[in-house]
Parts: sequence; C-alpha cells; structure tokens
Amino acid sequence: MARSIVPQARVTKLLVLCAGHAQGAVPVQGAVELHCAASARGPVQGGPHALPGRQLQAHLLGTGLMTIKWDEHFKGIQLLDKLLGLPANPWHGKIGFAQLPGSPTILNRSIGKLEACTTTTCPHAALQRNQFTGETSLVNTAPNFGIAGFSGMINTLQGAGYKQATFNFFSFIAQLNRSMQHVIDISPVGPFLTQHLSTTPSALARWQAAGYHPPDVVTFLDNMDKSLTHSNGVLDIRITNGRLYR
Ligand SMILES: *[C@@H]1O[C@H](CO)[C@@H](O)[C@H](O)[C@H]1NC(C)=O
Ligand SMILES: *[C@@H]1O[C@H](CO)[C@@H](O)[C@H](O)[C@H]1NC(C)=O
Repeated sequence: MARSIVPQARVTKLLVLCAGHAQGAVPVQGAVELHCAASARGPVQGGPHALPGRQLQAHLLGTGLMTIKWDEHFKGIQLLDKLLGLPANPWHGKIGFAQLPGSPTILNRSIGKLEACTTTTCPHAALQRNQFTGETSLVNTAPNFGIAGFSGMINTLQGAGYKQATFNFFSFIAQLNRSMQHVIDISPVGPFLTQHLSTTPSALARWQAAGYHPPDVVTFLDNMDKSLTHSNGVLDIRITNGRLYR
C-alpha cells in the first residue's frame, strides 16, 4: 500500500514547480499551486514527502486529515488489519469517503483566466458555505471515477470458436456475482455496475463477511453513486465502438 508511485524525475519537476515556476495552462498552474500549498500545510513538509504513499502513511497514523486516492485506498484501509495480521481494525468507523472537493472558479477559455462560477458558466454547481470565511458561493465539482477503465477486445481475424470463447470469458468475469468478488477484494477494480452500489442488507452482509465495516461501506457506495450520477460526469457510451462517438 505504501508504495511510491511517482518516479523521481517527476518529483524533481514538482519541486521546481513548487519553487514558484509553474508553467502551462491556467488550470494546471492552479492545480500545482494547490498541490504545493497542501504539501506545505501537510503533516510532513512538501517535496517527496507529499507523495501519495507518504500521504497514506500520515492518513493511517492520524496525522493527515484528508487524502485523495482511488477505491483501492478505501478497500486497503478497511482490510488492513487482515493484511497486517492485527486483531482488530482501528480505522473502521474513523475514515470516511467523499467526493472530490469542488472549486468556486472555472476557466474562461477566451481570456485564459479562472473566473468565479455563475449559474450560466457552472450550471451544475451547488451553493456551499466556506466554513473559514463564512461566505457562500457556487462550487463546481468534478466527479472522480478513478484513473482507468477496463475493456476487452477480440481480434476479428480469429476463428469463430476463439471469438466466442473470448466473448464468453469477458461475459463471465463481468457477471454480477463474479465481478462483485473483484470489487470487494483488494484489487484496483471499483464498482462498475449499478448493482455493485447496492446497500441492501444482503449486499452489505457480503462486504462485512470480507472484513469491511458496513457503515463505512454505505458512505463509500453512496459517494461513488453521487460521483457516477453527477451531472458534470461524462461516462463513455457503452456500445460497440462507443469511443468513436465522443
Ligand atoms: C470570458 O471573458 C470575456 C471578457 O471578459 C467575457 O466577455 C465573456 O463573457 C467570458 N466568457 C464567459 C463564458 O463567461
Ligand atoms: C457468489 O460468489 C460467491 C463468492 O465468489 C460464492 O461463494 C457464491 O456461491 C456465489 N453465489 C452465487 C449465487 O453464485
């Protein structure tokens, strides 16, 4: 879990960027500034210590309030007692799961500047109160679906039997009960069927039997659902050659 996923070359680049030389498009500069500001306020000083592996460590030790990661982070923490052979899981009931924080600004592409959201430029933004300033403003949210998806392909030049067998294989691993096993296991697979988001007693019993804390699972699944159904989200169309319709 605590692996470092950013190669050294990128570390150096981030350090240079944090020294105040952010280059590139305005939103990228904004993201780099945010990254640098967050690192400076982090439980450990910026630079390589702010990398995801270290953030995870701080998060687990209770010195990091918030971290941004994928489904496997949630799953890993829920099952960490089993992985480490601990008698109980001290993180159950203590670590939540939420959608990404939003932004009160949006890029005006004609002038290359970030501007305050309006109901026209950010139609799906919601009014939120800033708990530090007390001000209420429109906050736009970008749903996070993780970093990657899975797709299967069959070579059209293969024989019919081979094609059918490959199709059957993909169909088999995507079946609800089968794929639910991958969603629950420590794997990079997150919920990808609506049924995976079920919080019925029988669905929760399956998570619990695998070692999860059901109230945490409900928070996880509810927030995944909110992200997946968010009006700002654009999911690939699920038909043959769907990517051609983007
Ligand atoms: C972008 O900025 C220009 C110049 O201020 C303004 O005229 C235009 O309405 C803005 N675009 C949007 C989408 O708000
Ligand atoms: C669903 O999968 C679980 C675990 O892989 C298995 O124990 C159970 O028998 C399966 N249920 C059905 C109805 O196939």
